[in-house]
Amino acid sequence: MPLKMPERMFVRNAWYCAGWDYHVSQGRNALLARKIAGERVVLYRKPDGGLVCMEDRCCHRQAALSLGRKEGDCLRCMYHGIKFGPDGACVEIPGQTKIPHKARVRTFPVVEKNNWIWVWMGEPEQADESLICFAVGYDDPDWNIKTSEMHVDANYRLEVANLADLSHLAWVHQNTLGAGDPATVGAFTTIQDETTMLERGINTRYWIRNVPANAFLQHLFPPEARFDLHFDITMTVPCNWILHFRAFTAGSRTEGESDGELVADTYTCQTICPNDEHSVEYYFSWGASRTTDLPGLSDMLRETVEQAFLEDASVLEAQHARVMEKPQHPTIDIIHDAGAGKMFWVLDRLLQAEAKAEEEAALAGAGRSARAGAPAC
Ligand code: FES
Ligand SMILES: [Fe+2]
Repeated sequence: MPLKMPERMFVRNAWYCAGWDYHVSQGRNALLARKIAGERVVLYRKPDGGLVCMEDRCCHRQAALSLGRKEGDCLRCMYHGIKFGPDGACVEIPGQTKIPHKARVRTFPVVEKNNWIWVWMGEPEQADESLICFAVGYDDPDWNIKTSEMHVDANYRLEVANLADLSHLAWVHQNTLGAGDPATVGAFTTIQDETTMLERGINTRYWIRNVPANAFLQHLFPPEARFDLHFDITMTVPCNWILHFRAFTAGSRTEGESDGELVADTYTCQTICPNDEHSVEYYFSWGASRTTDLPGLSDMLRETVEQAFLEDASVLEAQHARVMEKPQHPTIDIIHDAGAGKMFWVLDRLLQAEAKAEEEAALAGAGRSARAGAPAC
């Protein structure tokens, strides 16, 4: 069976992360151009700090509004000077008094939560803030969270599959998040997880017990040190991945909560925004709770995850190139594809529901036009 790349690639009615809140300042030239799920958008802040997200495409001749000029709450296209309000409506056409009612650009609901900027790419009336994923932001007083980001030239579904299967830590990340020793490889490739299906994703929890320190920590502990690790991962569409990761000194229990000493209580919050079918922007963080933090610890976590994601990127970019060259090439499934299969089931169900709703709306529209055009009897 070939790796499935659906014709309809992106869920529309979903929140997509456009970046960290500090990516859009109050600066006079702070117009942030992004491509989200194939749509070009521009983001800017009004003088009151509120964010505006509009299509990065002037309704006159498709010039880039991200090359425009902020004027109070408004944005002016710097090709022929048309000015748009924050609701996308044209408010001025220099040299012309009449403003056509079609003179407007599309705007998108935009929300800031946990230091991430979220844009709703679907029907504005369906924008539901409760669907924004839980995350721990860098301004949370209980955590010392460090942030970063990365561009990856790969389809976001390859990222979904990668994040839904942590057995790859044993191989891709043997010099960072994993460790090359047989105990760690064995533990990561025989994970016994508890998975719960969610409305828009999955929650997975498991223990890995009595293993040596991960490669990035080995210089901090004697070689004989052993740890119990707990993973609690919530993954939601389109590609949000929130991990509560705790490390304990190895205890005696083989089931349930470790009775070792808690040495690190951390959150890593990650969201992947597809630019289009061929690349993504990856916004991520990692940090320790204030109760387990040490000077330099959270910085080390951020440095490690940056290094680890370069390891992922090198695998996924090469994989993406091959999938694009031969999309119908047969592939096999193995046990470690189960998590990805569950996430794709959720994603594909939403994609199918949106396709069906659009089809029904189109049929209803066609029916209305036919009735309107029918001769009166
Ligand atoms: S293209 Fe924007 S004003 Fe002409
Ligand atoms: Fe990875």
